[in-house]
Amino acid sequence: MNTELTAIGLGPGDPELITLKGLRALQAAEVIFAPQSRDGDASIALRIAMPWIDQARQRVVTLPLPMTRDSGQLRPAWQAAAEVMVRELHGRRRGVYLLLGDPLLYGTFIYLWRELRLRAPELIVNVIPGITSFAAAAATAGLPLAMADERLIVLPASYETDAATLQRLLSEFATVVLMKAGAAVPSILAALEQLGLLDHALYAERVGLEGEFITRDLRALDPQHRPYLSLIIVRRGELL
Ligand SMILES: C[S@@+](CC[C@H](N)C(=O)[O-])C[C@H]1O[C@@H](n2cnc3c(N)ncnc32)[C@H](O)[C@@H]1O
Repeated sequence: MNTELTAIGLGPGDPELITLKGLRALQAAEVIFAPQSRDGDASIALRIAMPWIDQARQRVVTLPLPMTRDSGQLRPAWQAAAEVMVRELHGRRRGVYLLLGDPLLYGTFIYLWRELRLRAPELIVNVIPGITSFAAAAATAGLPLAMADERLIVLPASYETDAATLQRLLSEFATVVLMKAGAAVPSILAALEQLGLLDHALYAERVGLEGEFITRDLRALDPQHRPYLSLIIVRRGELL
């Protein structure tokens, strides 16, 4: 029997931002996998997809994946998750793996895919793209991402936040998207202030989810304790 596993990008939070193709794949699945951080939080991906899931007919399996950069913890978690997935998919035709935003943009599926290939090379894997968090944030705030010949760069903020780096990036790119902002927000705001760019940025957290907060007024933003699901877009180019 050919078994297919489809990674579905759900979009950042609003259940209506799933694509039609993603919705069809989700509803055709016999088993639905969703990542869950080990701290006991309900899976956000699962909550987003819940309106489209029929629990009487579809099996839901959450996979514990820790939120850490420690590869000593991550690798065994991906391996364990891949083993569960292979076991659950055995004898079934269609499974899906749910993710926030787009599956191939900093998504856990990339690591799982590698582990699945080693364990089940015969598994047919498909990826359905999703609306990224930064596209949804820009749309909500009416912030152009790029126009004409402009260049745009997407970075993990946790690695590049000092004023010198931002200044260098902004000399080359009209728009800089800083993802994984959370704990880096204080240093990003300090850098933007130093560069005189506080009025050229957008801060967005929990886009499309309960507690959504999107603002262009970064001067009024308390930089402390911002959640992991947050991003900043800095735009040197034209604003609306
Ligand atoms: C592991 S990455 C996943 C990115 C996701 N695959 C995407 O396409 O947007 C997690 C980062 O994405 C951003 N993110 C994802 N969902 C978000 C949301 N609903 N609101 C704000 N930022 C979000 C945040 O920067 C967060 O730190």
